[in-house]
Amino acid sequence: MEHNIGTYNDLDPDTEARVESLLAQMTLPEKIGQLVQIGPFAPFDFEDYQAKNMDELIRSGRVSSFLNITIPHLINHCQRIAVEESRLGIPIIVGSDVIHGYRTIFPIPLAEACTWNPALLERASRVAAEEASAVGVDWIFAPMVDVARDPRWGRIAEGAGEDPFLGMAMARARVRGFQAADLSSGRRIVACPKHYVGYGAAEGGRDYNTTDFSERTLRDVYLPPFKAAFDAGAGTVMSAFNEISGVPATANPLILTTILRDEWDWPGVVLSDYESVRHLIPHGMAANLKEAARLSILAGLDMEMVSSAYPDHLAELVAAGDVPLAAVDEATRRVLRLKFRLGLFENPYTDESLADALILRPDFRALALEVAQESMVLLKNEGNILPLSPQTRLAVIGPLADNRLDMFGCWSLQTHPEDVETVLEGLAAYLPADAWTHVPGCPIRDTAPTDIAAAVAAAEEADVVLLVVGESADMSGEAHSRTHLGLPGRQQELADALAATGKPIVCVIMSGRPLVIPRLAGQAQALLAAWHAGIRAGRAVADILFGAANPSGKLTASWPRAEGQIPVYYAHKNTGQPAADADMKAFAAVFKSVYLDEPNSPLFPFGFGLSYTQFDYADLRIAQPTLKLGDTLVVSATVTNSGDRAGAEIVQLYVRDRVGSVTRPVKELKGFQKIHLQPGEQRIVRFEVRVADLGFTGRDMRYTVEPGDFHVWVGPDSTRGLAGAFSVS
Ligand code: GLC
Repeated sequence: MEHNIGTYNDLDPDTEARVESLLAQMTLPEKIGQLVQIGPFAPFDFEDYQAKNMDELIRSGRVSSFLNITIPHLINHCQRIAVEESRLGIPIIVGSDVIHGYRTIFPIPLAEACTWNPALLERASRVAAEEASAVGVDWIFAPMVDVARDPRWGRIAEGAGEDPFLGMAMARARVRGFQAADLSSGRRIVACPKHYVGYGAAEGGRDYNTTDFSERTLRDVYLPPFKAAFDAGAGTVMSAFNEISGVPATANPLILTTILRDEWDWPGVVLSDYESVRHLIPHGMAANLKEAARLSILAGLDMEMVSSAYPDHLAELVAAGDVPLAAVDEATRRVLRLKFRLGLFENPYTDESLADALILRPDFRALALEVAQESMVLLKNEGNILPLSPQTRLAVIGPLADNRLDMFGCWSLQTHPEDVETVLEGLAAYLPADAWTHVPGCPIRDTAPTDIAAAVAAAEEADVVLLVVGESADMSGEAHSRTHLGLPGRQQELADALAATGKPIVCVIMSGRPLVIPRLAGQAQALLAAWHAGIRAGRAVADILFGAANPSGKLTASWPRAEGQIPVYYAHKNTGQPAADADMKAFAAVFKSVYLDEPNSPLFPFGFGLSYTQFDYADLRIAQPTLKLGDTLVVSATVTNSGDRAGAEIVQLYVRDRVGSVTRPVKELKGFQKIHLQPGEQRIVRFEVRVADLGFTGRDMRYTVEPGDFHVWVGPDSTRGLAGAFSVS
C-alpha cells in the first residue's frame, strides 16, 4: 500500500502568503468566527438549524465549522452561504466522529489493534475516509490514541490499548489512511488524534475523572502516540476533558504551547472537546465563561467546540487588553492554514451523487470482514475443540448470538441494523438451519425473567454449546465506565447452568473492553474474544469457528483476574521487593509485592493470542552484543509453523533496560512483525531497533539514552520468549 500521506504540517510559502493576506483583511469578529465550531448531532435536525438562524450566523462569518452534520445537501447549503454570501467567502469545515468506520462499520478500535496489522488499519481508515468524504465531511475526529491501562474506563474501547509503542504504530497507520491524498471525492480529510492528553489515566477508571501523573509518565507513556500521529502528518488535535495534575488539558500551557509548539514546532489546529472550555468552570479553574475563554486562548486552544466562550467573550477580552490580538491572530492563522491545505477554497462543495455509489461498497464490506477476522483473539482452545466440524450439532445460547445493534460498538454514528450479519447468520453459511437450536437464555444486562431452563434443555440435545455472551455496546464508550467487569446481568448464571450439563462449551465473548471472567474461562473449552466486531461480526465468528479463518489476533490490553488488580499491565516497574514470579501464589511470600488473594499476573496477558496451528521459536541471534549510542540493535530468531495449517504469527520483541537514572519497566515492546507461514515453513524474523529509540525521559525531563546492560526477548507474547542480552557503551 503506497502511503499517500497527506501531511498538513510542512508549511509551504504560497499557502502562508495566502493565509497572511486573508488574515490582514479580517475584522476581529470574523477572526473569532473562525474559532467557533457548533453543531447538532447527526442526524442533522434542519428545523433546529433554521430555528437557530444558522444561515445568518454563517453569512456574517460568526461560525466557521460544524460537527456531525453528515447530509451532503445540507453541508452544501451551509457551504454555499459561507463561500458565496459571506464578506470574505471563507469556507466552513465539517468534522465528524468517524471512529471505526462511517457506514461500513469495522470492529471497535481496541479490537482492530489486536490485528497488530498497521497496513490493514490504514486500509480500513481509508475506507472510513472515502465514505465520510463522500458525504461532505472534511475532518475526522480520530484516531483516538489514548493509552489505557484501566478496563473499568469505558473509552478503552476506542483506542489501541495499554502500550505506547503499539499505539504509535496504530496512530501512524490511521492518520495515513484518513489523510490519503487521492480519495474518490477528490477532496481531503484531516485527522484529529485525541484526546490530548492522558485522558485514559482517569482515576478509578471513571470517565472524565482527575488524572494525576508525573511529567515523565506524560512524556514516556501518554504523549508518544500523539507525536507519532503528528509525525505522520496529522493536521489537528483535540484537547481532552481531564485535568492533568491540577490543570485541565483544554487550558494547559505545558501541553498546548510548551510541548506542542515550542518543543515540537507543530503548526496544526487544536480543537477543544465538546464544551471542554465551559467545563473549566465546574473544574474550578475559571470563575465564569469569560475567564474560561481567556485561559483557553492564552494556553493555546485554537477552536472551541460547541460552548460559546470565544464568541461571547473574546472580542471584549481583546478590547480590554486581557488577551493580545496576536493570540487570536495565531489561532485564526492555523485554522485558515488548515482550510487552504485541505483545498476547501478551491473545492468547497460535495458531489451529492457520490455517497450512493460509494457507501457500503462490496470491497469495503469485504475489508470489514477481513479486519473482524484478524481482530478476534483465541484465548483458549482445550483439546483443539476448535475448529468445529460442520457435522457438529450446536446449541447456540446467549443474548448476543442474534444481535445486530451491539455489533456497532460504542461509537458508530451510522447504525443501520440491516447492515449487520449476526452470529446466527454467519452460522448459516456453514450449517443447515436444522443443525442448531438457538435459545437466548437471558438478556445481556438486566435481570429480567430468563429461559435458562430452555437453554439447558437445548444443550442436553447438542454435541457442543456455542455460548455467545458479553456486553451491550452502551456498556463501554464515553461516560460508560464499570466497576464490576464480569459478565453483566445473569449471563454467568446461564453459563453455570450450561457447564453443569457437562457438554463442551465454546464461548464467544463480545465486549468493548477486557472483562474479568476467571470462572467462565474455567468452564469453557474454547474462548474467543470477538469484541464488538462491526457489520461483519457474525460471519467473522463463523469463519473462525469452522476454520475458514485461522485466528491470529493478540491482546493489546491485559485481561485482569480481578478488578482489584487494576491497573495491571505488562510494562510495569519491578519495585524494590518484586515477587519471584508473576504467578506466585498468595501467602507464599513475605515482604514481596504480592496480593494475598490473587497472583500478580493477569488472566490473559498483553500480546497473547492462540492459533489453530503451532509456532515454535528458536535460535535467537544478536548481531552485535555491544553497541554504541549511534548503532542499531539487530536481533533475529527462527520461527517455525510446526502445525498442520497455515497461520499468521505476531512475533514480538521486548527489551529491558536493567539499570537507569530512573527506574525502567520490566519489559517494553520495541518491535513486532506479523508473518504468515505455511505448515512446516520456517522463517528467520529480523528486527532492527535504533539504540536511540531505547531511551526515556531522564531526571532533567529530557529524552535520554543511557549506556548499560539490556535484556531482549523475541517471543509470542509479553510473558514468553527467547531471551538474550546486549549492552550499550
Ligand atoms: C465527545 C468526545 C469526543 C468527540 C466529541 C464530538 O464528548 O469526547 O471524542 O469527538 O465529543 O462528538
